Amino acid sequence: MSVDTYRPGLEGVPAAKSSISYIDGRQGILEYRGIRLEELATQSTFLETAYLLIWGQLPTKEELKSFQHDIRYHRRIKYRIRDMMKCFPESGHPMDALQASAAALGLFYSRRALDDPIYIRNAAIRLLAKIPTMVAAFQLIRQGNDPVQPCDDMDYAANFLYMLTEREPDELAARVFDVCLLLHAEHSMNASTFSAMVTASTLTDPYAVIASAVGTLGGPLHGGANEEVLTMLEEIGSVENVRPYLEKKLENKSKIMGFGHRVYKVKDPRATILQNLAEQLFEKFGRDVYYDIAIELEQAVEEKLGAKGIYPNVDFYSGLVYRKLGIPTDMFTSIFAIARVAGWLAHWKEQLGENRIFRPAQLYVGMHDRPYIPPKERT
Ligand code: CMC
Repeated sequence: MSVDTYRPGLEGVPAAKSSISYIDGRQGILEYRGIRLEELATQSTFLETAYLLIWGQLPTKEELKSFQHDIRYHRRIKYRIRDMMKCFPESGHPMDALQASAAALGLFYSRRALDDPIYIRNAAIRLLAKIPTMVAAFQLIRQGNDPVQPCDDMDYAANFLYMLTEREPDELAARVFDVCLLLHAEHSMNASTFSAMVTASTLTDPYAVIASAVGTLGGPLHGGANEEVLTMLEEIGSVENVRPYLEKKLENKSKIMGFGHRVYKVKDPRATILQNLAEQLFEKFGRDVYYDIAIELEQAVEEKLGAKGIYPNVDFYSGLVYRKLGIPTDMFTSIFAIARVAGWLAHWKEQLGENRIFRPAQLYVGMHDRPYIPPKERT
């Protein structure tokens, strides 16, 4: 391997072949299994889309019914997992709690042959079903309350909002939340998916695969950006302050959270759909001042950085939607994780189909033949 072929961050280096999702970053197109995101967002549901991603095609009516039934059946978590979560510090970040809890699931469900389709299906169902329950449980536990049991009469998204708020959610809020999950379900070879695939390639258990992806998603350059966007909008505080704030940030060469993308050089199609969802919520529940700040910031960033291909990414408007749904800011990335489990599982399954352990090379730039100096001779 030579210095010429080295690409920091593996930028542009194909690390796998995949038929799960396709992005055209110049035209702002995203497809899941060949279907445009816009079509799925208006006509499908998160669970149907998760099925599409994992098994490659839209389910028949019967397949969907049985999938939804199995997810409902597996939503509950073992009391030992709840008890373990009660020992986590309340000040801990929800993503750390989720990573630990997802990994802990592996203690309860035995490792079986990864070529057994029943094992694959059951693991996928358990993870999709239990992760939202664990996210909601940690939120209640850290507030000093007992977690709420899942409600068998509610769909996936409505049930999550119910477990979080202990109230039956508004119909629009539940539909908007379901679309948010669908929009975040998959996004080709991003950092957390790569992390899931590297872990999967060792043929370890699927709970370890998801736990490693959760850990990767948490960083501010990846899923963690949605939390930072809201913090930034709060810090800006008013529409008048947008441009002075931006000037200062750019002078300091700081990144503006929620903008820019390795692949998209136009506005992320997910950001466009999320902005529309935010507007639907504002129309029903009242406009949010942070939305006006966000619109002004988008305009100002486009003027300054549009030529470089820096536009809003998925994280820019998602926080405003979650805020309106009453979700605390430090839970935003966990919501992203609930959705992305579908994509991670799809890549896990695809990886197992043609597995080769990831073992890239490195360019060694260190020293050679150094003598060992005993401690007493070191200065
Ligand atoms: N604000 C200001 N300038 C930016 C930004 C930004 N958000 N993003 C990129 N740039 C500039 C950067 O300074 C550089 O300029 P120059 O060529 O003059 O040095 C140029 O654009 C290329 O930037 P880069 O950091 O080399 O691009 P990248 O492909 O490595 O980074 C990114 C992509 C998403 C890490 C980056 O745009 C970023 O840090 N954005 C802010 C954090 C964020 O919103 N992350 C969420 C990403 S989308 C969801 C997800 O993947 O989870």
